[in-house]
Amino acid sequence: MKYLITSALPYINGIKHLGNLVGSMLPADIYARFLRLNQKEVLYICATDEHGTPAELAALAADLSVEAYCERQHQLQAEIYARFGLSFDHFGRTSSDANKELTQHFYTRLDQNGYIEERSIRQMYSLEDARFLPDRYVIGTCPHCGYTAARGDQCENCTRVLDPTDLLSPRSAISNSERLEIRESKHLFLRLPLLSDVVRSWVEGHAEWPPLSKSIALKWLNEGLQDRGITRDLVWGVSVPRPGFEGKVFYVWFDAPIGYISATKDWAVAHGDSEEWKAWWLSEDVRYSQFMAKDNLPFHTVMWPAMILGTGEAWKQADYIKGFNWLNYYGGKFSTSQGRGVFLDQAIDLLPADYWRYTLMTMAPETNDSAFSWELLQTRINKDLVGTLGNFVNRTLTFVTKNFGPALPEGGEPGEAEAKLRSQCESLVTRIAESLENMEFRKAIDDLYTLWTVGNQYIDAGAPWTLIKTDRAAAAQVVRTCINLIDLYARISAPFIPFTSESIANALHLSDTERSRPWPTTIDLTELKAGHSFEVPPLLFRRIEEQEVQGWREKFGS
Ligand code: 2FM
Ligand code: ZN
Repeated sequence: MKYLITSALPYINGIKHLGNLVGSMLPADIYARFLRLNQKEVLYICATDEHGTPAELAALAADLSVEAYCERQHQLQAEIYARFGLSFDHFGRTSSDANKELTQHFYTRLDQNGYIEERSIRQMYSLEDARFLPDRYVIGTCPHCGYTAARGDQCENCTRVLDPTDLLSPRSAISNSERLEIRESKHLFLRLPLLSDVVRSWVEGHAEWPPLSKSIALKWLNEGLQDRGITRDLVWGVSVPRPGFEGKVFYVWFDAPIGYISATKDWAVAHGDSEEWKAWWLSEDVRYSQFMAKDNLPFHTVMWPAMILGTGEAWKQADYIKGFNWLNYYGGKFSTSQGRGVFLDQAIDLLPADYWRYTLMTMAPETNDSAFSWELLQTRINKDLVGTLGNFVNRTLTFVTKNFGPALPEGGEPGEAEAKLRSQCESLVTRIAESLENMEFRKAIDDLYTLWTVGNQYIDAGAPWTLIKTDRAAAAQVVRTCINLIDLYARISAPFIPFTSESIANALHLSDTERSRPWPTTIDLTELKAGHSFEVPPLLFRRIEEQEVQGWREKFGS
């Protein structure tokens, strides 16, 4: 069995925030790293989702061509994700040639199979901007409540759903011009109701999905699917290969999920075997898991599977869809468009990746919405990372260096305390593995923390600093066990805090063979033997002070 993993493709415009990271990319990365440690064949794919009006408008605002804007933003996002340690096998782009070709292929198949319908619709056209306006780019006065900045799709004030033609005094959100008229425009629709039954049986065939994913899928199916427009009057996007559709493109949501496949094609080419993508997307021996926040669930549990089923081709469908709730920021949502919360470029300049990776996963909105706060971040860093893991590693290695020198000391034999410790570690490591296999990240990280606490308990009970005065060999045995524990911590923590794990591996002078040991199924706390050298690493984590928290609250708003 091979493991295909994808994270929802982040929009190209803007820099993503902590909520985006914790709800799709970070858990997928932890899962991918865990499986790789288990020596599984893994392919972890992500890409920027580049088409659509927001990209066009952002390019306009940046005074760049949309191509240049996307190029720049793609590089920026790629660099930020690398700094967070996200281990994509490929980070592609939906504006690639491969995606264009495959999107047109999907359309052609759906059309051949009778799932596409052409219709004329009436749409707002802006004379000033010389373009059709998508619904939300028409602004005007709400006919229900009189709110003057209502959008053509919905009034933010009274929440009523609107049609742009309902608005009083409509104007363009791009130019503010009121020179608008209604024009007829031809568009293509995906006939989703015809696919409802096959999608339903597919969803119902997945009893094991998390409740969030399943309930959202069934809610949509039960409410009844509607035909869905899949073309837009835009320039930036995949062109529509159909007479009369010159100058139109596919709706961004139509080509975006196809990006999962086309990014894999691009990976295969970069990898030197352009056919290798088929082994992932047209093969049965693959377990495919998707990660995303809950706003993406309707699309991935209904619309995208419908598109695949409608082609009648054997594309790999998701086996498991892991959805996340919202991570809130002081009672509100993180929001790219409103600039609210903490953005990834700011976050990674503030603190190293592992501080975020660990603390965010302790707050992951896995079963409910959860809350980010600077105070909680401070507690997790100071108590868990500094006080528990960092403290154990540094105090142990410093003590051993001072009293025995920079290598594991000789003497003594493991006894009852070590047998107990070993079995404690074994059950925790087994549980962590089970939780990760089931993608239960909060459970996994709780047990990881417990695993770290076991070391401090063991060394406190063994008290080598006292023991050394009466029984040097016994003290040597205790610290040897502790250093083996540190080695175990580095291995088990690696999916969560890979940079720290690597620092620990460096401090322990681990060989390449030692570094590539698979995830352990039985625990041996005598693997590193007497004589194995090490060094004391610089402090693994630093404390977060009260005034920093105050400063961040002021800077980022709370
Ligand atoms: O919500 C988003 O950020 C979308 N860009 C997700 C797209 S996922 C996939 F379909 F491409
Ligand atoms: Zn209103």
